[in-house]
Amino acid sequence: MFHEMKVTAVVLAAGQGTRMKSARPKVLHEILGRPMVAYLLDTLKEIGIPDILLVVGYQFEKVQAALKDYPVRFVVQEPQSGTGHALQVAMAAVPPGVKEVLVLCGDAPLISGESLEKLYQAHAKARAAVTIQTAILPDGLHYGRVVRDEKGGVLEVVQSRDAAPEILKIPEINTGAYFFDATFLRESLGELQPNNVQRELYLTDLIKVAAGRGQTVAAAVAEDWETALGINSRQELARAIRQVQRQINDRQMSHGVTLMDPESTYIEPLVTIGKDTVIYPDCYLQGRTEIGENCLIEPQVKIADSFLAAGVHVRMCSVITGSRLGPGVIVGPFAHLRPGSDLRQGARVGNFVEVKKSVLHEGVKANHLTYLGDAEVGAGTNVGAGTITCNYDGVKKHPTVIGERAFIGSNVALVAPVTVGAGAYVGAGSTITKDVPPGKLGISRARQVNLVRRQLTARKEVKGEDRLSLENLPGVLQGLGLGCEAGDLEELCRLLVGCGVQNVAALLKVATPENLALIKDMYRHAEGKDPSNCEVVANLAHLAKGLMK
Ligand code: UD1
Ligand code: MG
Repeated sequence: MFHEMKVTAVVLAAGQGTRMKSARPKVLHEILGRPMVAYLLDTLKEIGIPDILLVVGYQFEKVQAALKDYPVRFVVQEPQSGTGHALQVAMAAVPPGVKEVLVLCGDAPLISGESLEKLYQAHAKARAAVTIQTAILPDGLHYGRVVRDEKGGVLEVVQSRDAAPEILKIPEINTGAYFFDATFLRESLGELQPNNVQRELYLTDLIKVAAGRGQTVAAAVAEDWETALGINSRQELARAIRQVQRQINDRQMSHGVTLMDPESTYIEPLVTIGKDTVIYPDCYLQGRTEIGENCLIEPQVKIADSFLAAGVHVRMCSVITGSRLGPGVIVGPFAHLRPGSDLRQGARVGNFVEVKKSVLHEGVKANHLTYLGDAEVGAGTNVGAGTITCNYDGVKKHPTVIGERAFIGSNVALVAPVTVGAGAYVGAGSTITKDVPPGKLGISRARQVNLVRRQLTARKEVKGEDRLSLENLPGVLQGLGLGCEAGDLEELCRLLVGCGVQNVAALLKVATPENLALIKDMYRHAEGKDPSNCEVVANLAHLAKGLMK
């Protein structure tokens, strides 16, 4: 409605925001990913305000940098001596032909375009010098109180800091939005005096000036006062975040998106979502994210600056940033897609898989415990569990290229730069440092050998009267320092029992150190070499038989 009008909006944003207790200028505190003042600038653009002046001061370089993409003119207020002073400084930049000046506070950014249009209509109708937006609150809190005469005419706005107790009881407050007749402003701004607790120039004192001169002061009571309130503390910031969250979620639901639990779902303003998409609780959709129709986003998912085509399924606890997901892609649970991940139609990325700056062509599967970085994986390729692209040599990043319909076995390290050709196969556990040509089997790992293993039997208490058996014999022989190979045990057991060594006690009785030394001596004498343990035990059996005769 304001397109064709000679109107300038002045947005006051020079203050520090002391009550925020912050190192950051107040107007840059974020509401769902955007500086709070950006919401106000968007609304002004929407309703067609042709000229916007932003008064900056405290850390103005930071504020200017954060808002550099907005079509606003910056005015620097230095020092910051109050809202009236800010308007004085801004007025010098208001073009001479301008008829009306809309003044707004950068810390009350959620004011609706509709209520600004109503404010203007009241202003035009009354041909007022100034028209102030007010609200009736259950409790006026710290806001300026609107003092009216008995006929309802506005006399002045008194700051709560300067107000007597009976003034503080007034429920009508100043939201901080005003239309001024430009001529009135030019004539009266010089009259402001710092006669108040803060020793500042109050812009609200212009109301008293106008009323005192007998000029018309009009007021428009905002019905949607909740969004018109200023943000001065972290508590008020939290309230504003909740308001924006609800507005956005309502809009998404009206467009056909299911939000299972809107209160725990945080969708930033620039996010678009297609209809019939279902979003589970505790999700964060951020930045310039675009989600197609019929997607399913499971709980505790964070998606930022990403594009999801139709029918994408993101399973629980996944994080997706700066990525593209084609139709029907499935990721997660617990997947991490970092910037530059490009998953084409039907690709699947499973649990504990991280992808960075990589293209996974149609139908690629990387389902378990994998890292793919700086990689291109051809259509239909299967990437086995535990595959890692070793893309970083400590200084530079290197690419890995895998052709179509290849098969990478489990636990493979692909040391980049490296290429695996189409249809090639990489054996599980390989460390691939050289290219694998198409169709070939690349394998690099130590050859397997099967060694004789020591017989480990469950340790069961052995008693003397236990009959000798394959179960207790190995342990008893070990104990005697006569461990034998597994293959010989059955034969030895039979021999011992056959020679009358029926139980463990009998074996221990015959296997004295003297008898063992005797057997070894005899064997050495006869054979000219030491006996093996097996031969010692066999001789022990014969000795026992002889002794028993
Ligand atoms: C102001 C109003 C109060 C109103 C409330 C609504 C005055 C004196 N008081 O109080 O009546 O109820 O807003 O939210 O106007 N600013 C500057 N330069 C300065 C001081 C402030 O640009 O020298 C800017 C701030 O950055 C802020 C806005 O003006 O965006 C309002 O200032 P703030 O200190 O928050 O005033 P309030 O106490 O909220
Ligand atoms: Mg304020």
